Amino acid sequence: KEIFEQPQAIRDTLESRITKNTVLVGAFGPNANKIFSQIKQVQIIACGTSYNAGIVAKYWIEDISKIPCNVEVASEYRYRNPILQDDTLFVTLSQSGETADTIEALKTANKINKNINTLCITNSAESSLSRISDITFFTHAGPEIGVASTKAFTTQLAGLMLLALSLAKSRDLNPVLRGRIVKALRLLPETIAESLLSKEQMIEIAPNIANKDNALFLGRGIFYPIAKEGALKLKEISYIHAEAYPAGELKHGPLALIDENMPVIALAPESEIAEKLISNLEEVKARGGTLYVLADPSINMDVKAGKLVHMPKCDFFMTPIVYNIPLQILSYEVALLRGTDIDQPRNLAKSVTVE
Ligand code: M6R
Repeated sequence: KEIFEQPQAIRDTLESRITKNTVLVGAFGPNANKIFSQIKQVQIIACGTSYNAGIVAKYWIEDISKIPCNVEVASEYRYRNPILQDDTLFVTLSQSGETADTIEALKTANKINKNINTLCITNSAESSLSRISDITFFTHAGPEIGVASTKAFTTQLAGLMLLALSLAKSRDLNPVLRGRIVKALRLLPETIAESLLSKEQMIEIAPNIANKDNALFLGRGIFYPIAKEGALKLKEISYIHAEAYPAGELKHGPLALIDENMPVIALAPESEIAEKLISNLEEVKARGGTLYVLADPSINMDVKAGKLVHMPKCDFFMTPIVYNIPLQILSYEVALLRGTDIDQPRNLAKSVTVE
């Protein structure tokens, strides 16, 4: 249900925050623009799925607004002595706004340097995280009940794209690119709806994953965090061990794992490094691995007993969001076949309010 609510969730997140071709100055509240124009680096902190959203954002922020951005898991950040400069925008990401590690990491940051500016992107406007942040961006995903985060992730990404655009706008950077991205964002609910149609193909693939003990997810560049998110969803709800790798790392170790019992799920959008990814996938094929490839319609490759699924055509900046949708559906269908409790996986809580 929550997977299929994503087109509307995205509409609600974007509502009153963009016009036809620009992000509104007030999208992050009245004081944000002044702060955005002054900061010189971004530090993102989060856990789990929210952390994966943060890694996607690093690519967008550095690419679109040319501001250096670091991303770190909250549970590690809070226990080291990080260097934080005055002109840092410290961003916490949290669906619940109640994750203990993320709250403590923010408190740690405020102790290290009280001059930093803090922004939280959360689905709970009245949360503890919101109360201790300078700025709150509310994602409007609606209540997310499933422990496995889906629509919260997608709406976080929409919010993070608005952040990248707002940072660029505060510096008058890349006006043409910004206009193009806002137009693509307006089309995003329809593109996600199209992507949801991949359900039939995911139902076909699911039995080949459900009867295995392991799975490998591959992506390159901004698709590495999407591969990580695909692996996290699969392990959380189906209890299959899954790992994600940037495909170029294969020959530095994980290629040794490849045989007929290791399904490989790969993300192949049209990009500058699509050819390199395809050659990584050829290496998997040559070692007997079965490939399930989500690809741009322009990409054709022989996947033998595996499956090639063509994704809807969309602006490159929207592809991480769009390609994540079939990965959510695939995990759901695999879990359904294995008879696990999809909404409430064993050993997990929706909101991790203790360490
Ligand atoms: O509420 P938060 O976004 O702070 O939660 C962070 C993680 O606990 C959460 O994303 C977790 O990884 C989900 N179960 C993933 O589906």
